[in-house]
Amino acid sequence: MHWLASAESTNDVAARLAECGAEEGTTVVAEMQTAGRGRHGRVWFSPPGAGLYVSVIVRPAPSMSNDEQPAPLLTLAAGVAIAEAVRVATGLPAEIKWPNDVVIARRKLAGILAEAAMHGSSTRFIVLGFGVNLQPAAYPPELGSRVTSIEAETGRPVDRAFVLAEILAAISARCRDLREGRFDAILTAWRQLAVALPGARVEWDSPAGIVRGRAEGIDRHGALLVNVDGNIEKIVAGEVRWLA
Ligand code: BTN
Repeated sequence: MHWLASAESTNDVAARLAECGAEEGTTVVAEMQTAGRGRHGRVWFSPPGAGLYVSVIVRPAPSMSNDEQPAPLLTLAAGVAIAEAVRVATGLPAEIKWPNDVVIARRKLAGILAEAAMHGSSTRFIVLGFGVNLQPAAYPPELGSRVTSIEAETGRPVDRAFVLAEILAAISARCRDLREGRFDAILTAWRQLAVALPGARVEWDSPAGIVRGRAEGIDRHGALLVNVDGNIEKIVAGEVRWLA
């Protein structure tokens, strides 16, 4: 484990270590990030000590990835691991929002950015980066009621080393499930943790404009299935917004 006072992005530090041969499980933690990034090119606000900013190197077995999409199940597995670990470490009812945001009552608590390094069509390694809000200072106030933190939810100081240890143990266990082919265990756990998903009204941007429908669940590759006017649409990537 590399524990840094500051990093631009722990995902970049981990990728450089992986390029130099660092083994699976090598973990980079930073007290703060100066250029933390989220999904869809967003900034991930990373002030000192207010959140966990962590990246783990994963070297996938062939069964963990395919040519079109590197390790889709790995990103689901990481969401499962973080939600499970937050539940164990804090007692909070953490849930998952597709594909792998960890939320409490629809407020975002943690996000995952998995970045793959490819060689042709095969995945050389994946950097699994995650950020967990520990304190309200972890996010800009303008995000308001859409985000939350462990301390805001529990009302008491959080033992961040304990939360981190639980998360890393859970990621390790879920990666073992993947490596040993227990895909159903991941999907079942994901479905149990995404309790608000079935029947939820959702919308997303398509090239033809905004599409709305009712979420039905996920298929065995982790794609979101949405009922749009009686037809089932499959969403493999992108961002889905929940409607009230
Ligand atoms: C999201 O948009 O939900 C994903 C956020 C991922 C943030 C983490 S913090 C540690 C790692 N380093 C980064 O630059 N991003 C990820």
